[in-house]
Amino acid sequence: MKKVIVLTGAGISAESGLKTFRDSDGLWEGYDIEEVATPQAWERNPALVQEFYNMRRKSVLEAKPNAAHLALAQLENKYDVTIITQNIDDLHERAGSTNVVHLHGIITRSQSSINPDLTYPVNGWELKMGELCELGSQLRAHVVWFGEAVPMIENAAQLCTEAEIFILVGTSLAVYPAAGLVNYVPQYVTRYIIDPNIPVSAGSGIVEMPYKASIGVPMLIDELMGID
Ligand code: APR
Repeated sequence: MKKVIVLTGAGISAESGLKTFRDSDGLWEGYDIEEVATPQAWERNPALVQEFYNMRRKSVLEAKPNAAHLALAQLENKYDVTIITQNIDDLHERAGSTNVVHLHGIITRSQSSINPDLTYPVNGWELKMGELCELGSQLRAHVVWFGEAVPMIENAAQLCTEAEIFILVGTSLAVYPAAGLVNYVPQYVTRYIIDPNIPVSAGSGIVEMPYKASIGVPMLIDELMGID
């Protein structure tokens, strides 16, 4: 089976009701990212950060996969598909995709605040102050903050070098190191991008599909399913 690597961003979940980051003046649900998504924010005001991610978790649990997530899951019937997502939601998994790399973590899990390798499922939407990991430290959301290392990046880069077909969906390619992954895809590989606002850093020679994910992804998947 041909190896398809898909890199997704916030745009694929926009039509499921989860807001993107850079479509709203650099604010994330009304917050400055520095206030809620950095280690310094956690040091300054852990309760605020916890509450912010509790709200995000609540929205994620209420959201449903859309036609784009579902189409990508169907692609597994004919291709060896790996999804590398920057999203912290679990909509790819709920749509049925079985091979998903979460570059920036996943909100449905918690993480020890002293050892990022210790992660646990969160029961429901609320992670409370006072809930501790097995080492006795406060649990936080299992997400990668600005200024933190991205542990899965090397694995993701390797996957990109192995791509036989590469698809980008709904990402502004504004945040590194994730944005740099496109450079690991060999130039001769057929590459597609689905985004109503195609970022220039997607590179030249890429097939541009300037559509919303729920339209563009099923369109492309139909085409790929028809190729022998
Ligand atoms: N369908 C497809 N693409 C869409 C849609 C849609 N319905 N709506 C918006 N988009 C596109 C926008 O045009 C933009 O290119 O989705 C992209 C969203 O970009 P960002 O908000 O920057 O999201 P993303 O690229 O995922 O951000 C990367 O930044 O804030 C951090 O860690 C966070 O993982 C996130 C990372």
